[in-house]
Amino acid sequence: MTATNTPNMPRDRVLIFDTTLRDGEQAPGFSLRPAEKLELARQLDTLGVDIIEAGYPIASMAEAEAVRSIAAELKRPVIACLARCHRADLERAVWAIQPAAQGRIHTFIATSDLHLQAKLRISREQCLETAVDAVRYARHHTYDVQFSAEDATRSDFDFLCRVIEAVIKAGATTINLPDTVGYSTPDETVDFFTRIIGSVPNADKVVFSTHCHDDLGLGVANSLAAVQGGARQVECTINGIGERAGNAALEEIVMAFHVRSDRMPYTVNINTRQLYPTSEMLTALTGQPVQVNKAIVGRNAFAHEAGIHQDGVLKDRRTYEIMNAADVGAPWNPLVLGKHSGRHAVQRRCADLGFQLEGDELISVYRALMSIADDRKHLGDDDIIEVVTSVRTETRTVEGRTVETRTVETRTVETHIVDALEASSTPLSTMHESGYGHGV
Ligand code: KIV
Ligand code: ZN
Repeated sequence: MTATNTPNMPRDRVLIFDTTLRDGEQAPGFSLRPAEKLELARQLDTLGVDIIEAGYPIASMAEAEAVRSIAAELKRPVIACLARCHRADLERAVWAIQPAAQGRIHTFIATSDLHLQAKLRISREQCLETAVDAVRYARHHTYDVQFSAEDATRSDFDFLCRVIEAVIKAGATTINLPDTVGYSTPDETVDFFTRIIGSVPNADKVVFSTHCHDDLGLGVANSLAAVQGGARQVECTINGIGERAGNAALEEIVMAFHVRSDRMPYTVNINTRQLYPTSEMLTALTGQPVQVNKAIVGRNAFAHEAGIHQDGVLKDRRTYEIMNAADVGAPWNPLVLGKHSGRHAVQRRCADLGFQLEGDELISVYRALMSIADDRKHLGDDDIIEVVTSVRTETRTVEGRTVETRTVETRTVETHIVDALEASSTPLSTMHESGYGHGV
């Protein structure tokens, strides 16, 4: 591990800076009303994030008021808000965080030549002066000042070091070095932070921060790499929302530290059991679902349909799971039934529904369900109940429902099974199941 600078913090402590309400909320389709921002901010507090970036007050008066109401209510986390290095932005930011128990002004300016020339149309010297003036102004109004060098990872290294040294002298307490366009690679990121921290003479006075976008799908990997290089604040968002392809996902970073503490021995203050509820709240508020296979919080993150996997997790969940669903507050769903499921999973799922199935009866139910599953994405409880009752002859009560006695019906699926059996002339009880669940 490289040298690191963590003033007033244990060396292994990593601060989680959540920017869901700022970078996340500014992405298309994710805008929230002030009351919704406050509701999510309360949940971020419950989750345990160290810093909540509550918004960008100059965007509108409603945005400024939303930040101010969050600052007025939440006393444990630091409440930050964003401001360009412009006087009007800074004044609005000062107003917005004024009621905070711990407020932070986060000011930024681009430092790459591309942004300076093409976007801001200013020289490097003008950039440096503007940054220093802004930090001085912010520091005059609050103790806690974060400076971000936008597009830091594509900036001239020596110029970036000059800017960082100057803003630390002007009073910045956190230096954030964003990979604004998600261009970096993990090895490069370790090197970048190591070199910056080793080159800036007053680097030991501040906390270095990483802010990675996910344009190449490397946002989380780069954030972890930055920590390896000495960063001790990670900026991230719930569900990885944010500009374009989004920001590094908070839940993935936190669980990477949690599960792989052998390789990344860092501590964070997050209540991991609140990760899934927080993700769900964001989804409900924005109406934007996460992809089903999203790490940690996707619907399939702890679901198993393949028979071999179901059999494995039923015997010992560590065969196919590296963390417990309960640890992130997610439902554990090892028995999703579909065409890849095996007999054991069908048997267990039926037992959960009140049907004890053995021998030929189990195989008949299994076969019938697999035939239905060939045409369906999922098998629901209603499908299972219907199939079991159609092959059973006894009357029983299932989860409060009275299931009528029926004789074995000649269903299309059963005819199909019988044909298959006749064709193979294999005894029913020794037949293999179809699909991925062979033999389990
Ligand atoms: O991506 C970025 O560079 C940013 C800064 C404003 C911190 O969001
Ligand atoms: Zn960003």
